[in-house]
Formats: sequence, C-alpha cells, structure tokens
Amino acid sequence: MLELNLGFRFAAFLFFTSTCFISLPSAQSRCTRGCSLALGSYYVEQGNELGSISQHFDTSVNDIVRYNRDTIPNQDSIPSFVRIRVPFSCDCINGEFLGHVFSYELRSQDTYITIAQTKYANLTTADWIRRFNTYDANRLPDSGTINVTVNCSCGDSSVSKDYGLFLTYPLRAGETLDTVASAANLSSDLIRSYNRDANFTPGSGLLYIPGRDENGNYPPLTSRIIRRGHRWNSCRNSSCGAVTCRMLLFWIL
Ligand SMILES: *[C@@H]1O[C@H](CO)[C@@H](O)[C@H](O)[C@H]1NC(C)=O
Ligand SMILES: *[C@@H]1O[C@H](CO)[C@@H](O)[C@H](O)[C@H]1NC(C)=O
Ligand SMILES: *[C@@H]1O[C@H](CO)[C@@H](O)[C@H](O)[C@H]1NC(C)=O
Ligand SMILES: *[C@@H]1O[C@H](CO)[C@@H](O)[C@H](O)[C@H]1NC(C)=O
Ligand SMILES: *[C@@H]1O[C@H](CO)[C@@H](O)[C@H](O)[C@H]1NC(C)=O
Repeated sequence: MLELNLGFRFAAFLFFTSTCFISLPSAQSRCTRGCSLALGSYYVEQGNELGSISQHFDTSVNDIVRYNRDTIPNQDSIPSFVRIRVPFSCDCINGEFLGHVFSYELRSQDTYITIAQTKYANLTTADWIRRFNTYDANRLPDSGTINVTVNCSCGDSSVSKDYGLFLTYPLRAGETLDTVASAANLSSDLIRSYNRDANFTPGSGLLYIPGRDENGNYPPLTSRIIRRGHRWNSCRNSSCGAVTCRMLLFWIL
C-alpha cells in the first residue's frame, strides 16, 4: 500500500515536472505559435513574372491574384513598379522568431545578394538567407535548393486586438515610417508600436503593417491568439509559471 502510494507520487512528480518545464516559457523563446496567413509586400520590377514570383513563394498565381484584385486585373500581365501582396504562412521558427522558410531553386549566377534583392524584392537580406544555409556565400552551386527565410508578424494583443493580419513591408528609397503610415491610412504611432525593434532608417529595413484580407477588411486577432497572448504576457517574466509549478510540487511532495 505504501509502495503503491510512493509509486503514484513519483509518477505524478515526473508528470507534473515535465508539464511544468514544457509550459514554462524559456528565457530565449520569443514565439510559441505562428499564424496561417501573413502577406509580403513585393515591389514588382520590369520583367518580373507572376509565375516565377509564385514559385519563389511556394504559392500559386491564383492565390496571389486573390490578394491583389485592384492591382492585377488580369493574371496574364502584371504591371511593373507597383507593390503586390504575396500570401504565406507565418511560422514560429525554432521558438525564436516568426517567419517562413521558402525553398528556392538555384540558377547559375545567383548570389545571396541577388536572391534577396531581386527574387525576394528585399523581403529578406543576404545575411538572413546565409544564416539558414550551409553554402559558402561565394560558392553557391548552379543548382539545388536553398532556404530563404522571410520574417513576418501575427499581431500583438498588447497593442491592439483589431489587427490580426500583417504585411512584411521592405522600405524603398524615399519611404519613411510616416509616408507608409499615411499611404495605409494608419497612424505612425500604431505602426511604430508593431515595430519596436526597427530603427526606422528611411529607405531600408522591414516594417510590419496591419493588412487587409482579400475582401478589403482588417481581420482582428483571433480569440485563440488573444487568449494565448494574455497568458503569454502575464507569464512573460515566468513568475506565474514558476508559482504554478511550485504549488504543484508542494501538493505532490
Ligand atoms: C532592393 O534594395 C536594393 C538596394 O537598396 C535596391 O537597389 C533595389 O531596387 C531593391 N529592390 C526592390 C525590388 O525593391
Ligand atoms: C528577422 O528577425 C530576426 C529576429 O528578430 C532578426 O534578427 C533578423 O535581422 C530579421 N531579418 C530581417 C531580414 O529583417
Ligand atoms: C535548409 O534547412 C534545412 C533545415 O534546417 C537543412 O537541413 C538544410 O541543410 C538547409 N539547406 C542548405 C542548403 O543549407
Ligand atoms: C482613413 O481613416 C479614417 C478614419 O480613421 C476614415 O474616416 C477615412 O475615410 C479613411 N480614408 C481612406 C482613404 O480610407
Ligand atoms: C512579473 O509579472 C507580474 C504579472 O505581470 C508582475 O506583477 C510582477 O511584478 C513581475 N515581476 C517581475 C520581477 O518583473
């Protein structure tokens, strides 16, 4: 009887300690889950084709057209010098940041720089591509696939629950936080609060901007993310997780 009781307590101890460790956000972990949709703002240059853009982003021409009814009236011809919106899923990568790892098929003459600047329209950088690949930057093979990582955002319940879809927006020459905010008809303060890590250098870097869905509406944060967000915020310094664990251990022992 005593043995059984001890065995039970030991099993319960193991079970609860493991759940405690799993549910405790570690100091380094910066995301717990992603979201099914984010948009990349892709500046179309002369000669870009919808077919190759959709290949780079592992999506279909139709899916791109769906998010650009006003700019791409006809999928056989795509206007140049406009921004189009490219849909992709925004994943929590290694618990560290939100992004999507695309697989890009190498061609001869490709470099990490040309891939970032021309194929991915500065939605990523050569440095950020290099981090996820084993190849030497100066010696890319002529064929094969590489990982191209594009960052994204799923929103932030501590800023607003009204926005749940975000555009990853590379600033181009002449653009600043204010020009982008007024073009989107959103306040600069709102955009600043979604980009706490940005340095807002005019004409370079990425911004995360609330985006409209294919029907032209701003989708709100979904309730699941909001609840997660609350728990995450209130447990951010892990005191809440630690207290729960201590209470459980106390009860078992
Ligand atoms: C990407 O950035 C480079 C360097 O700033 C610039 O020359 C190029 O036009 C940009 N490409 C696009 C598609 O915006
Ligand atoms: C993507 O996000 C990571 C983590 O926040 C950051 O270190 C990296 O510089 C970002 N990459 C780009 C291209 O902005
Ligand atoms: C791409 O990422 C995967 C998963 O991390 C890795 O196994 C693979 O080696 C990477 N590809 C290259 C070319 O480094
Ligand atoms: C911009 O937003 C304001 C309210 O925030 C609204 O009254 C106005 O119609 C919007 N303008 C455009 C062009 O969407
Ligand atoms: C941890 O978070 C709780 C709840 O948000 C807060 O009351 C407490 O002061 C924080 N503790 C520290 C050490 O930051």
